[in-house]
Amino acid sequence: NATITRPAVLILLGPPGAGKGTQARMLEESFGLVQLSTGDLLRAAVAAGTEAGQQAKAVMEAGGLVSDDIVLAILRDRMAEPDTGKGVILDGFPRTAGQAEALDGLLAQAGLSVTSVISMEVDDAAMIARVAGRYTCAGCGEGYHDEFKLPATAGVCDRCGGTAFKRRADDNAETAGARLTAYHAQTAPLIAYYEARGVLERIDAMSGIDTVASGLAAIVTRVSAQ
Ligand code: AP5
Repeated sequence: NATITRPAVLILLGPPGAGKGTQARMLEESFGLVQLSTGDLLRAAVAAGTEAGQQAKAVMEAGGLVSDDIVLAILRDRMAEPDTGKGVILDGFPRTAGQAEALDGLLAQAGLSVTSVISMEVDDAAMIARVAGRYTCAGCGEGYHDEFKLPATAGVCDRCGGTAFKRRADDNAETAGARLTAYHAQTAPLIAYYEARGVLERIDAMSGIDTVASGLAAIVTRVSAQ
């Protein structure tokens, strides 16, 4: 395992299906960082039926972006938990200019700043195929894909041995198209925002999962040492 000596704040930026969740989990295991996925936090709020979850549900099912207020409140609560002390990998956040600015303010209060933003670059067409074939273990959340990542033993999770799997409500071609449109309109401009700040790295996310993981690990090792 690699060593990180100061709290790292890494952002994985990329369209739906770029592999943000897949790679964040791998980085979490290799570097001991904590994955913070606003998508996962919102889905948990929807499942729990909280007020925020009730407001977010329809927007998520339509493939739009949940309001900054809701997302920021959820993220702020999660970042205040003690396990984030070594560093975090933000997966799916920030997604708007307002969220990026709010993140800067939140980090500044803790004497921190964004360590690195890694833009995961993938073709729009590939994204649709990846999202449509995706499923996760109902027990531990490990991600799989009908074509690209099957469990070693059919029907059994590699990570926890669970045998129940689930698919997301928004993983259909129509909603995936809306999510991609939202990404290009509201999130892709953040690439230029972070590039201007000198913290942007780019990775070709079209290669295989392990190749992307090696490239990301090299980036994280390098930026953490700076
Ligand atoms: P969220 O859960 O963040 O979804 P997303 O951004 O659409 O991203 P995905 O989870 O679909 O893709 P991913 O990049 O994680 O890919 P994965 O690793 O699974 O958000 C969902 C919704 O919540 C949003 O639409 C919005 O409504 C709301 N929301 C969330 N955050 C918000 C925010 N900050 N502000 C406002 N609203 C917010 O990979 C996909 C598949 O491809 C997997 O099956 C995987 O095995 C496979 N795969 C991965 N990498 C590769 C590879 N290199 N080669 C082949 N296959 C691969």
